[in-house]
Amino acid sequence: MAFREEIAVRSENRFDLESIRADFPILDRMVRGNPLVYLDNGASSQKPLQVIEAITEYYLGTHANVHRGVHTLSQEATDAFERARRTSQSFLNAGSAEEVIFTSGTTEAINLVANSFGLRFLGEGDEVLISGMEHHANIVPWQMICARTGATLNIIPVEDDGTISLEKYASLLTERTRIVSVVHVSNTLGTINPVGQMIRMAHERGIPVLLDGAQAVPHMKIDVRALDADFYVTSGHKMLGPTGTGLLYGKMEWLHKMEPYQGGGEMIERVTFEKTTYAPPPFKFEAGTPNIAGFIGLEAAMQYIQRIGYDAMRMQEEKILQYATERLSGIKGVRLIGTAPEKVSVISFIVDGAHPFDVGTILDQQGIAVRTGHHCTQPLMDRYCIPGTVRASFAFYNTIEEAEKLATSLERAISMLVA
Ligand code: ALA
Repeated sequence: MAFREEIAVRSENRFDLESIRADFPILDRMVRGNPLVYLDNGASSQKPLQVIEAITEYYLGTHANVHRGVHTLSQEATDAFERARRTSQSFLNAGSAEEVIFTSGTTEAINLVANSFGLRFLGEGDEVLISGMEHHANIVPWQMICARTGATLNIIPVEDDGTISLEKYASLLTERTRIVSVVHVSNTLGTINPVGQMIRMAHERGIPVLLDGAQAVPHMKIDVRALDADFYVTSGHKMLGPTGTGLLYGKMEWLHKMEPYQGGGEMIERVTFEKTTYAPPPFKFEAGTPNIAGFIGLEAAMQYIQRIGYDAMRMQEEKILQYATERLSGIKGVRLIGTAPEKVSVISFIVDGAHPFDVGTILDQQGIAVRTGHHCTQPLMDRYCIPGTVRASFAFYNTIEEAEKLATSLERAISMLVA
């Protein structure tokens, strides 16, 4: 059996943790003399062999630039690239492949919407509504466009447990609100926001909604049409795919009304020195040669997730979340930040008397990779009056044993750091 077929069969339709872990060779490596315990999946997931192989095979046998080429390689590369778009469409349940724009990641996707939507629809006195738990990628682009257009950025406050109050949200939806842009799942707190309800409430007032799904897509099935999101953005590298890939779903009615924010090759219909007309969506938003290999790898990542199934992934993650939450909250001096009833498998915590950076460093010495710091959510850290947290973010390929190793290593770190 060929290598790729073998790994495909191994992970077909069953949640066999041992086989799944065998698809991620990096999980076998040692770090500082200890087996790696990778709990930084919120920052970037590891990649299965299927993704690595898809990229390698593409470069070994198919690579050429896409679109417009009459030669065979270019046509094959174009077919593979556009097939990845159709796979993305069905993965997100978008209405058409043309509603899926390939970007370099969530950050570029939000910048695209902030600029293309903002320059068309924002003016003096208008309002953009985001939440207090946004990643900087969903704050700074809106601040920049507000500064250019005279619009105001309003903030939905975060409650102590890391949730959003729908009453407070409702009170911030005004006749001047032009767009709501909120995170589906918080990267720092793990909170799953009630986005279906938030979209309905915004739509009742005729306000479109962008959801930042960077931390949602690795954990749950996304159906952009069931959500009725106007824009949905995510990153490939957090969902088993390559770095430098991202998806922007936009309802066609908006994409038609928005001007491109970058110009160049690939995005035009006709160029003269006097005037340029643009290609239809999605191409008008994809200036320049795209990350062809990246999206072919991302397609393999989506297919991998579909083969394992979100239900099975979620079940494993829930088990670990529950175990780790109970274990860590039982350790003296540990305080969890973000205790929403609806959470993904992310645990942020602080340790009394110890800086998150020091805790992370000692955990690393024991082979445990966690994130420390503000997690690109400085206003949220200010909200809790803390400099940062230690964050363990679990994926479906993690184990209960790894959660236990985190807990025992944390106990050791605390005994070293706190007198
Ligand atoms: N946004 C990434 C994280 O949450 C980097 O870690």
